[in-house]
Amino acid sequence: MTGRLQLVRAAVAAGVLAAASLGAVAVGPASAASASDGPSPRIVGGTIAHTADTPWAIQLSNSGSPDPTEEWCGSTLVAANKIVTAAHCAQEAASTYTAIQGRDVLSDTSTGQESKISSIWVDPDYGNQPGHDVAVMTLTTPFDGVATLPLETDSAADTAGAASVVYGWGETEGTGPADTFQKVDVPVLGDAYCSEAYASEGYTADGEICAGYEDGGKDSCQGDSGGPLVLNGRLFGVVSWGIGCADAGNPGVYAEVATYASELQAQIG
Ligand code: ARG
Repeated sequence: MTGRLQLVRAAVAAGVLAAASLGAVAVGPASAASASDGPSPRIVGGTIAHTADTPWAIQLSNSGSPDPTEEWCGSTLVAANKIVTAAHCAQEAASTYTAIQGRDVLSDTSTGQESKISSIWVDPDYGNQPGHDVAVMTLTTPFDGVATLPLETDSAADTAGAASVVYGWGETEGTGPADTFQKVDVPVLGDAYCSEAYASEGYTADGEICAGYEDGGKDSCQGDSGGPLVLNGRLFGVVSWGIGCADAGNPGVYAEVATYASELQAQIG
C-alpha cells in the first residue's frame, strides 16, 4: 500500500495524468491510500486554516506512516484526554500513535503539543456492518485547557444543504501545500444522493453523511480520515471514505456522529 502511494506521488511529480479509474475504496488512512485515480494530492480545493482557530482539530500521527512527518489521520478533541477518530484509522497498536495539538505545518515541530495514546476503543460493529467507522482514543497527557468540540446528537442535522466544513492535513491534489492544515466547505448533499452514487459500495443512510459537490472540485481526501466535519459548532461527522477525491459524482462520506453519539459519549465519559 505504501508502494502504491509512492507511485501516486511519483506520478504527481512527473506530471503524469493517469486516467481516472474507479477502483476504489473505502477506507485506509494516509498510508493506505485507496485513491486510484491518478494524482491525488490533501483537503482538495480548500484554503489554509489555523489550529489556533480550531484547537480541537488534532493530527493523529503514526510511526508506521510513509510520510516523513508521520502524518496518518485527523481526529477531534472531545474531552481533555479523549479524541474521536475513524475506526479505520485506529487499527494499529496504541503505542504507535501520537496526538498532536496546535501544529498547522506538521514539519514544524517547534509548535504545538503532543500526547501518546494509552488506550483505543473501536466501535465493535465496525467491519461487521456498514458504517460504524468511529473510534475513541485516550491520551496519556491530557490537553488541559484546550477547547473541545461537543458531539452532534440530533440526526436531523443531516439535511441536504447544511453548511458543514471539513478540516485536515491530508492530500490536496496539488491545490495546496503539503502537510499543512486546511479546511473546505462541504455542504450536505443528502443520503439520497450517496445512496445512488455509492449503491454498489454500500453507503448507509443510517450512520453516514454524504457531503460535497455533485460537480466535485472540493472534498476531503486521503490523510483527512478521522478528522472533523463540523456543523453549528458541533462534531457532525468523521471523515470516512470516498472514491477518489473531489471527483464529480463521488462526494465524501462521513461517519454520522449523531447515530453513534450515545456509544461515543459512554466512552468519553
Ligand atoms: N479514507 C481516506 C483516509 O483514510 C479518506 C477519504 C476521504 N475521501 C473523500 N473523497 N472524501 O484518509
